[in-house]
Amino acid sequence: MTVVLAVDAQRPDASTIARAAACLRMGGLVAFPTETVYGLGVYALDPVAVRKLFEAKARPADDPLIVHVPSLAEARELVTDVPSAAAVLAARFWPGPLTLVLPKSRVVPDDVTAGLPSVAIRVPSHPVAQALLRASGVPIAAPSANLFSRPSPTRAAHVVADLDGRIDMIIDGGPTPMGVESTVVDLTGPSPRILRPGGVSLEDLATVLGAHPLTETRFDTSGPMPSPGLLDRHYSPRAPLTVYEGDAVHVIGALRAAAAAAELDGRRVGLLLMDGDRVSTAKGEVRVLGPLGNPEAVAANLYAALRELDAAGVDVILAHGVADTRGLGAALRDRLRRAAAGRVVQCSA
Ligand code: TXA
Ligand code: MG
Repeated sequence: MTVVLAVDAQRPDASTIARAAACLRMGGLVAFPTETVYGLGVYALDPVAVRKLFEAKARPADDPLIVHVPSLAEARELVTDVPSAAAVLAARFWPGPLTLVLPKSRVVPDDVTAGLPSVAIRVPSHPVAQALLRASGVPIAAPSANLFSRPSPTRAAHVVADLDGRIDMIIDGGPTPMGVESTVVDLTGPSPRILRPGGVSLEDLATVLGAHPLTETRFDTSGPMPSPGLLDRHYSPRAPLTVYEGDAVHVIGALRAAAAAAELDGRRVGLLLMDGDRVSTAKGEVRVLGPLGNPEAVAANLYAALRELDAAGVDVILAHGVADTRGLGAALRDRLRRAAAGRVVQCSA
């Protein structure tokens, strides 16, 4: 039985939070909203509970979890060192959508980090996440609250769809504001390295890091894996998705042609479009994500739209991709490309 408890996102009811915190301390699984996506929380220092979480999500054990704490102070016992670059990033972006990979202390069970000598730490800003972390008084390991290989949940209903009956509790705090996961930065090497673009933009990171060089990792599957969980099979909708990138005029031309061809083949088409894209489908489904020039708006709608197209049972998804990687654009392009699992079409004259 999974209990769903609704709270006000800005001022969550203290007794509801206390109930969820007690459940977590006893080794229960509690889904809760963060500013990025819903997380599935578990008491991070309880290896039995952590293994239960991997089972509930059907997540491979080699994919490490992010440990959430209410502030940098509570992270100290989990790590052996806070390098100066980490301290600077934490001061500027915590609480917020940034995850720092740091050398782990012996306090953190190997089940959390998939045996790695490092641990990923995040201080979320969402009032519900903050309240839950403070009420529980323990570090909370929380991956996104989806079944493995499904898009991350940005609404409580998404968590219900994937995990009902498999977890103890869901705190429904409404839609998550950002809609894409946190930026993950590895600080265990000689210089900071981005493992996953996300809620904090690369420009903002670079501004703050100043002298610290940033190496942007390429997320193709050919090279060595920078982070075991960062596989293309993540974020995949059920229907095969192809993403069309390039200037809008050529993208729209290509989308029209592809939609028409798929329909001639008798397939139901799902279209993921930007505001004003004039592409249509005879008997398929259309979702408009937002203005191409406003990646924040697009990100807030992306995962919900992918799930809706899946639920509608379309056979293929054709998406207008993101070419401009400023701001949240980098995270959006990354997630769309992953959802496409390599089916990326470059459109130009
Ligand atoms: O926004 C977010 O980060 C959300 C919310 C719930 O906080 N969480 C999230 O967790 O996206 P998850 O498990 O879906 O993604 C965590 C990513 C994975 O790609 C994992 O491989 C990476 O962080 N990661 C975790 N620990 C790591 C470590 N020690 N070294 C390198 N990568 C790590
Ligand atoms: Mg995830």
